[in-house]
Amino acid sequence: MLEEIESIKVSAIKELQACSDSRRLAELKSKYLGRKGQLTRMFRAIADMPAEQRPIVGKAAGEAKKAILEKIKEVSSDLETREAGRTPAFFDVTLPGRKLPLGRKHPLTLVTEEIIYIFHGMGFSLVDGPEVETEYYNFDALNTPADHPSRDIQDTFYLENGQLLRTHTSPVQIRVMEKQRPPVRIIHAGRCYRRDTPDATHSPNFHQVEGLYVDTDVTMADLKGVLTTFARQLLGRGAKVRLRPHFFPFTEPSVEYDFSCVVCEGKGCKLCEGTGWLEIAGAGMVDPNVFEKVGYDAERYSGFAFGMGIERIAMIKYGIDDVRLFYENDLRFVEQF
Ligand code: DAH
Repeated sequence: MLEEIESIKVSAIKELQACSDSRRLAELKSKYLGRKGQLTRMFRAIADMPAEQRPIVGKAAGEAKKAILEKIKEVSSDLETREAGRTPAFFDVTLPGRKLPLGRKHPLTLVTEEIIYIFHGMGFSLVDGPEVETEYYNFDALNTPADHPSRDIQDTFYLENGQLLRTHTSPVQIRVMEKQRPPVRIIHAGRCYRRDTPDATHSPNFHQVEGLYVDTDVTMADLKGVLTTFARQLLGRGAKVRLRPHFFPFTEPSVEYDFSCVVCEGKGCKLCEGTGWLEIAGAGMVDPNVFEKVGYDAERYSGFAFGMGIERIAMIKYGIDDVRLFYENDLRFVEQF
């Protein structure tokens, strides 16, 4: 037994002496002193020996362990000094650096920013408004009576507390006019919600831009002028605007407006279905009933309002044919902008 301990010690010291890297050092440490190490096994065997032999053998094993530990310490500090001054072999310093991927703005953000920028240039200031609304702001104050089909449970997400997710950005008009006397010239952009089944042109949540201009002597010609300036800046100098009669509860008269087709410039193509025009959204002169709700004098003031879907504008601008692409966050799509 004593001989065996001595031989373990000698071979451990010899191997440690020859050790030239820290990985090998760890291996040797475990080979001799680890849980299943050679010297550790000796210690276990000592426990089963006759009592009178135990002290002698135990002392020898203890001394061997001490010697090995000392050698390990010595080799380890040697290795540390050596390795500190050397590039490890597993690291290739000639490898080019790794590029961190750079995030970018979503196409809807880009278009929203552009729209806001254009209206800002015409003196419209940006305002905010809540997405969770009351029936009053989303419908009543906008002259939309309780039996109007757009209030149907099938179109609107109602919340348990009686509030709802706004179905359009128009309630922001009311919130602004309640707080501010004319002149008012504001724009708002944000998220809206409707109970729609998603397909290529519908999504239960989507984005709108709302505009409102109220002052003395605002006319429909101002509306057309503002929309034309907007279309030209967004789509190019040749862009034209067309107004068509329509109905909205909160405007009178109401119109739908179209931009001349960006692809065929009015000649007729697939995008505009041969008409030469692209439907954009709704607008009109603010209904006197709406002015009454916010305490504006309809005899003294007039104004126009307009709304438009941001997805629709982005689809036209970038030639996108499925609205769902905006929400799937497929990198192959969003990285193109
Ligand atoms: N709120 C309308 C919608 O979601 C769009 C709209 C039409 C807004 C006419 C207006 C407007 O401000 O005057 O369909």
